[in-house]
Amino acid sequence: MRTKIVAGNWKMNTTVPEGVELAKNVLAGISGKPSDVMLILGVPFTHITKVGEIISGSGIGLAAQNCADKESGAYTGEVSASMLRSAGCGYVILGHSERRQYYGETDERLVAKLALAMKEGLVPIFCVGETLEQREAGNHFNVVESQVRNVLFTLDPVHAASVIVAYEPVWAIGTGKTATAEQAQEMHAHIRKVLASKFGEVADGMSILYGGSCKPSNAKELFARPDIDGGLIGGASLKAEDFISIAKSF
Ligand code: PGA
Repeated sequence: MRTKIVAGNWKMNTTVPEGVELAKNVLAGISGKPSDVMLILGVPFTHITKVGEIISGSGIGLAAQNCADKESGAYTGEVSASMLRSAGCGYVILGHSERRQYYGETDERLVAKLALAMKEGLVPIFCVGETLEQREAGNHFNVVESQVRNVLFTLDPVHAASVIVAYEPVWAIGTGKTATAEQAQEMHAHIRKVLASKFGEVADGMSILYGGSCKPSNAKELFARPDIDGGLIGGASLKAEDFISIAKSF
């Protein structure tokens, strides 16, 4: 019923030629094999056009990793949702913990980004997740719930239906420490319950991805859980072979 999704988040990795090579390898790895798993590549801004040309017509989705909270104008260095759309993106990662942590991304700013992304018809991949400290204090459900409420609850059900949510415990990102399948499942079920309290049945159709040291060796166990609809993959998305192997883990 829900779309299975494996999305790569390349972060600030690869030069343009390296990214082109990686995209070609992903494409070569899946070519000719129809699959019910939606693949998305989350690439740096500089790579969007070139990677877009390579994956054009393949069914692979193209995501940016951020967008501006303003529509256009004198905001040096920013990239708007409409620019992303015009460059060929269909998706945009919003609220990644690295942006929240290092670039002062607030819920308020994310509300603006989300609205602009949706106005342009971009599908947001909206990230939530708690820190280790918050989990150890037993606050993880509350923290994630408020991230969902403060931002996604500004949408109407029609728009909410197209949002992809990614649960990424901060302590599991790039650390090699994966949440256990049980920990991930219970948080995903909680997120879906929170979404259902606002959007009703729409929540049943929303894909919720797990992210945080997801790799070929643990993807199968995670994806087997009822509320885990795929993954947002950082490190392992930089190797085409690993990325494809994760996509085959359902
Ligand atoms: P990781 O990153 O797979 O390298 O832990 C995931 C993410 O931050 O999206």
